Amino acid sequence: MKLIIAVIQPHKLPDVKKALFDAQIYKMTVMNVLGCGQQKGYTETYRGEVEEVNLLKKVMLLIAVNEEFVEPTIEAIQKGARTGNIGDGKIFVLDLLDCIRIRTGERGREAIG
Ligand SMILES: Nc1ncnc2c1ncn2[C@@H]1O[C@H](COP(=O)(O)OP(=O)(O)OP(=O)(O)O)[C@@H](O)[C@H]1O
Ligand SMILES: [Mg+2]
Repeated sequence: MKLIIAVIQPHKLPDVKKALFDAQIYKMTVMNVLGCGQQKGYTETYRGEVEEVNLLKKVMLLIAVNEEFVEPTIEAIQKGARTGNIGDGKIFVLDLLDCIRIRTGERGREAIG
């Protein structure tokens, strides 16, 4: 089991949702977040000294998947979110120790599935 955390441009969320749906990935948690990457939140056109990071609005997705869905999930996020420009986002993949469906008490891959 893996937990996939993706940070994307907010305006690409509909495209990412569509790509995930097409890959039969329907369960997700989506949050509005602030963040910055290696440009420190400033574009190359920004003029002046950068003395601190500038946090930009981003969307974060949390998706817990069983092993067979790891690569399809990554591919779908990339397909939906990529423009080729800086700030397209990042995907983090973490080992997931367990998952519990509260209603039934199911655990692990049954609970995720
Ligand atoms: N190392 C990191 N740790 C935590 N969050 C990160 C990290 N890198 C990127 N992020 C998050 O992802 C968002 C998008 O990052 P971004 O796409 O700008 O990455 P980048 O490394 O700067 O790549 P690029 O050069 O393509 O812009 C950031 O605003 C931030 O929220
Ligand atoms: Mg960046």
